[in-house]
Amino acid sequence: MAGTKRKAPDDAAEMDGRAGADCGLGLPADRPQRDRPNPGQPGRLEAGVAADDYFRHLYASEPDFRRLARRDAHFAAALQDNGQLDFSDPKATMQLTRTLLGLDFGLKLDLPEDRLCPPVPNRHNYILWLKDLMDTTSYEQPGRKLCGLDVGTGASCIYPLLGTAQRPWHFVATDIDMKNLSFARKNIQLNGLEDLVRLLERKPDDSLIPLDEAGIQSIDFVMMNPPFYTSEDDMVSSAKKKARPPMSACTGAPVEMVCDGGEVAHVGRLLRESLALRSRIQWYTSMFGKLTSLDALVEQLREHGIDNYAVTEFVQGNKTRRWALGWSFGQMRPAEHVARGMKASYWKKILPSSVTTDLLVLPADEPVDPVIAKIQKIMGDLELMSWEWEQGAAKGLGRTAENVWSRAWRRKRLQERERGQGDTCTLPSTRPKECRLGFEVGVVVGKTETCISLHWREGSDPLIFESLKGYLQGKLKATDQVNTASN
Ligand SMILES: C[S@@+](CC[C@H](N)C(=O)[O-])C[C@H]1O[C@@H](n2cnc3c(N)ncnc32)[C@H](O)[C@@H]1O
Repeated sequence: MAGTKRKAPDDAAEMDGRAGADCGLGLPADRPQRDRPNPGQPGRLEAGVAADDYFRHLYASEPDFRRLARRDAHFAAALQDNGQLDFSDPKATMQLTRTLLGLDFGLKLDLPEDRLCPPVPNRHNYILWLKDLMDTTSYEQPGRKLCGLDVGTGASCIYPLLGTAQRPWHFVATDIDMKNLSFARKNIQLNGLEDLVRLLERKPDDSLIPLDEAGIQSIDFVMMNPPFYTSEDDMVSSAKKKARPPMSACTGAPVEMVCDGGEVAHVGRLLRESLALRSRIQWYTSMFGKLTSLDALVEQLREHGIDNYAVTEFVQGNKTRRWALGWSFGQMRPAEHVARGMKASYWKKILPSSVTTDLLVLPADEPVDPVIAKIQKIMGDLELMSWEWEQGAAKGLGRTAENVWSRAWRRKRLQERERGQGDTCTLPSTRPKECRLGFEVGVVVGKTETCISLHWREGSDPLIFESLKGYLQGKLKATDQVNTASN
């Protein structure tokens, strides 16, 4: 998708919610993209989709400590003679975080010894998932300018640091702890991000999402890494249960790690606030430290009838696992790999419904042009709101206001024509103008087969998606020449 030009539908800004939101930072619309030094690569790496490939694979494998030590003398000093890092030593883990931020993102960090030191690969995974979530729920090109809210940014201000390093994003970042706020401010300044990150002090009982207080009408996403534990006992017993030597040093203060009701209650608060704010924010997201908490929150989403959600797991090597959940009141649905990012079949019950389905699979040696011509013909015969085929990307985007392929619709249409109310080209003004289903048809030529698939991009009605799938499968499988939409 990246690199191909596609025109966003006219109402894309409305569908995406809040084009041009600037987190109240008063940014000029044409603010030049920030670029930052990237000692991992020659030259400078500009934030944006061009750099995505580099960022995506940064922590695909465990960091090589000896290599890091060769590149950073401070890290070399923190390494043990055997080439290992003593994870039970807070100074050593803090140096690892500093080194990775410096070498991989060109970021600087100053942290107190008595506050949480974020492991970079885990926090980076959240940003990678968010990029996919936001990219796949917009008709605009990936990498658009976005405004996010980081609830509980911590002393490191890690998410705004990582987010602004990779994309033209800006942030509002909150916290309730004065020490965290003062270090977060320092880290914003150290990295010259004053014009991209706005810090807000909150009180424990204030709302988590201070849109009105910050004078912001709407933003694109909320992210949160909540205090996980219900009590200090819960924190200690949880750490004991983790059979993962060597034990990582945890420098987190109680305000960072513990809250009443733990993460289920904290994310529950976010959910309640989202029920009032609804589409003022496109995606509400949170990380989880316990899988059971994710399970509980998915159940709560379902109780509230929210079916547009995404779940994923973040894995670092075979050690730490974290999970994330996002939900939206908007119409755009995330791609399959973003919404259903949990592999183990046991967790199928918490996954949202699938948005991708195969329409037809052909042997790879079968020519693909006739299939594409057939797809174009089928779509051309339907009275869609729009249909646009991208030749280079071998995919097409369609939007429809109604089930225009159904017998009932065609019968009604015929009657209207007979009464002289409509012609063959334009929809009468009485017809709904709102999009009920946005979909993408893609053709992927693999080594052994060619796959024609249908993706649900927009809308909240699973039945119309299923109906289109059945209709297209029938049409594509039919061997005769397609003439009209007659199924
Ligand atoms: C687990 S830490 C996460 C820190 C940082 N975002 C990270 O990922 O490393 C949770 C943070 O939330 C903050 N916090 C706790 N309650 C909060 C509230 N009601 N509003 C805003 N921040 C809160 C804590 O002070 C702490 O910085």
